[in-house]
Amino acid sequence: MINKEKMCIQSRQLIAADTIEMVLKNRRVSQAASPGQFLHISVPGHTLRRPISIADVDKDAGTTTILFKINGSGTERLAAYTEEMHLDILGPSGNGFPTATASMEDHTILLIGGGIGIPPLHYLGRTLAEQGKKVIAVLGFQSKSHVFYEKKFQQFAETFIVTDDGSYGNSGLVTDLLDDVTPFDRYYTCGPMPMLQAVTSKLAHKDGYLSLEERMGCGIGACFACVIPEAGTSGYRKICKDGPVFQAEEVVL
Ligand code: FES
Repeated sequence: MINKEKMCIQSRQLIAADTIEMVLKNRRVSQAASPGQFLHISVPGHTLRRPISIADVDKDAGTTTILFKINGSGTERLAAYTEEMHLDILGPSGNGFPTATASMEDHTILLIGGGIGIPPLHYLGRTLAEQGKKVIAVLGFQSKSHVFYEKKFQQFAETFIVTDDGSYGNSGLVTDLLDDVTPFDRYYTCGPMPMLQAVTSKLAHKDGYLSLEERMGCGIGACFACVIPEAGTSGYRKICKDGPVFQAEEVVL
């Protein structure tokens, strides 16, 4: 079943360079969404909807928060929307991160995010911390002006910031820090493909899950615009329907 909903923009702000945060008032998604799921948003003048991960939900207030980077005509158009305007949205879509398994009790979790891959890890980390897990976050950005949500992550996680140019936090790549963090039981990661490749290869021996950011077509499993090779077979997985979250060894990056 395709769930469609009109959502009213309750707030919209530029929170870092080229990065917009929108809080969307809605009835259903805020009650049903789990960490790692995404919204598929219609943008006037564009045939394809834009998949945007859920950065947070507030069930009591009935709101869902999204963050996106302005990186093309579609997101530019979306960024021009202002408070009180409505967005046409499908979702919550896809399969999110596994969270509430009994075997994970007392676990230490490492979140590794890069750029606009960080928002889904925020909702995930907050959820895991509420379940009593210790959460560590390593978050990578281009530069100081791109950093967002540092304080929000600090509320539930031991947080490390890395910038490519060293203008804030540690200098370098998120993978440079992975040897120095507290031992952890499982990792979750989301970010650009080169980062995911580096993270999964460095942590090949660990239990891990990744979320794939991908330009999508239908967003509901009906086309093949978003496929990724499945490990150990000659088949493919659909990111929009089978993912966007996969076990690290399940797909070939
Ligand atoms: Fe159509 Fe995934 S976007 S199958």
